[in-house]
Amino acid sequence: MKSVLITGGSEGIGYAFACHYASLGYHVVLAARRVSLLEEAKAELLRKYSCSVDIFPIDLSVIGNGEILYNQVDGKNLDVMINCAGYGMQNRAHLIPIEADEKMVIVNDVALMTLCKLFIKDHLSRKHGMIINVSSTGAFQPGPYIASYYASKSFVLSYSQALDAEVKSHGLRVYCLCPGPVDTAFYDKSGGKMSAYHMSAEDTVSWCMKHLGRNCVIVPGVINQLLRLVPIKIRIYFLSKMKNVQSDT
Ligand SMILES: NC(=O)c1ccc[n+]([C@@H]2O[C@H](COP(=O)([O-])OP(=O)(O)OC[C@H]3O[C@@H](n4cnc5c(N)ncnc54)[C@H](OP(=O)(O)O)[C@@H]3O)[C@@H](O)[C@H]2O)c1
Repeated sequence: MKSVLITGGSEGIGYAFACHYASLGYHVVLAARRVSLLEEAKAELLRKYSCSVDIFPIDLSVIGNGEILYNQVDGKNLDVMINCAGYGMQNRAHLIPIEADEKMVIVNDVALMTLCKLFIKDHLSRKHGMIINVSSTGAFQPGPYIASYYASKSFVLSYSQALDAEVKSHGLRVYCLCPGPVDTAFYDKSGGKMSAYHMSAEDTVSWCMKHLGRNCVIVPGVINQLLRLVPIKIRIYFLSKMKNVQSDT
């Protein structure tokens, strides 16, 4: 039976990936912090699909936990790894506590980097395996009032593209999914507002799956693709006008 590890698989986009792979009969391994949500997701997957599911409660904002997770789930036997755990915080950069930004970068970048390294090391000789790293359209330009999140997603984009170029000729692929706004709990947590234009997590994942095999970078939705054509200075200007911050100082 094929198996997939999905970090951040307990809800939102990660859970939509879990449904997709469960529907294909994969052994699905979900990792996130909250045990209750993981258990709910597992029960729902088992109810809806003929699949097997394991859950691993882990905090990926702790350095070293990416490696612990990989070893616990027996990473070398995975077929697919999806690095989806992540979040952002909206505010003036200097008002976001240093420790909060540090933890976010560890989840969004450091844990993802560790998991990619371990997966590629184990899978290169097998000439088989696929990684999907979840970035954001925020990766394509700086993000005033959400600066560290956009920068962390630029890291994911650049890193994934470089890895894909390294491993493609060895039978492995590394994809970078860059969604625009998606209707999940992300916005409640980030302190921002979801724009009127948004996609569902299910449509985001189904777009991703349909576009595997071509480019490393996958941007779901025609509107998100068109927005990339707007000159970067104009994008930054509009983002700076759309500020949604707690304080003006
Ligand atoms: N929603 C959007 O508009 C949007 C757009 C572009 C990109 N993205 C990206 O898509 C990914 C998924 O976001 P989402 O929208 O699906 O948000 P979500 O519904 O809030 O899901 C986030 C997932 O990440 C897990 N997670 C968060 N912090 C973690 C930590 N320290 N350790 C382990 N797991 C952690 C969460 O579980 P626990 O909290 O229980 O740990 C949850 O399973 C993120 O990387 C996000 O940046 C989202």
